Amino acid sequence: VSKSRLACLLKASDVLVNVTDAPRLEAEILLAFVLNEPRSALHAWPEKTLNDEQLALFASYLERRTRGEPMAYLMGRRAFWSQDLMVTSHTLIPRPETELMVEEVLLLTKDKLRGMKVADLGTGSGAIALALAHERPSWEIYATDISEEALQIARKNAQQLGLKNVSFYQGNWCTALPCSDFDIIVSNPPYIAETEWADYAEGLAFEPRLALVSGQDGLEALQDIGLSAKNYLHSSGYLLMEHGFSQGAAVRHLLALAGFEAIRTVRDLAGQERMTLGRLA
Ligand SMILES: C[S@@+](CC[C@H](N)C(=O)[O-])C[C@H]1O[C@@H](n2cnc3c(N)ncnc32)[C@H](O)[C@@H]1O
Repeated sequence: VSKSRLACLLKASDVLVNVTDAPRLEAEILLAFVLNEPRSALHAWPEKTLNDEQLALFASYLERRTRGEPMAYLMGRRAFWSQDLMVTSHTLIPRPETELMVEEVLLLTKDKLRGMKVADLGTGSGAIALALAHERPSWEIYATDISEEALQIARKNAQQLGLKNVSFYQGNWCTALPCSDFDIIVSNPPYIAETEWADYAEGLAFEPRLALVSGQDGLEALQDIGLSAKNYLHSSGYLLMEHGFSQGAAVRHLLALAGFEAIRTVRDLAGQERMTLGRLA
């Protein structure tokens, strides 16, 4: 059996055909990861052989991938905004559509020069909080999660990125915050309904349920945050929450009830309602 890089790639591409739309690309990414070399090295030296240890490691990653485990968990990393973040099975894999939240916060505050006090509730890997901390070094960012394991990863990401303007707090939504008077509160909370979980479960089976499912109708966390955020914002502070594509009307209604105005929903690139925001009256 040939152990050349090229032979391994061909074999792996065959194996991955049933798992992904990009079998060759994923095979290359995994092999480069195992060899700890850039992908270009695979093209430059396709005939180089793998040793037994490398072969075994490559085979184990392929097996995990064929069982449906996402690439981000195999590599332990995922890019979000301009940053490369560590992710584990305790953290959601940050999604590209969540970058909308970062964009919207930057747009809302583009004329405001003074430092802002911002909270990111349910920070997971730290995605939103760390993107904002990086873009706005003068802001004070408070990141929370109920999962201590997720917070540990978020803290490591902040350290690796050298970001000093973020602090981390464990606890249930707003109650984790050590103070009030925030300018902005953002959250991408879990929003899948218990009853719909089974329909999603195959694609999301490797991600933490705690990060995805929220009550019978998926609105529990959105309601909790929507109703309590006003006690933690100063007057004319903003609340922004990501939600499912069918939850826009419910969230707009909720924010109106809670005393927010200038309420609007932002659509993602696929044209789906994805995030709703309002300003405290
Ligand atoms: C959809 S994930 C979002 C993670 C990250 N903000 C992102 O956008 O990639 C939701 C996060 O909320 C956290 N969470 C779930 N229930 C919570 C609660 N009651 N209080 C605070 N955080 C909670 C989960 O641990 C998870 O990290």
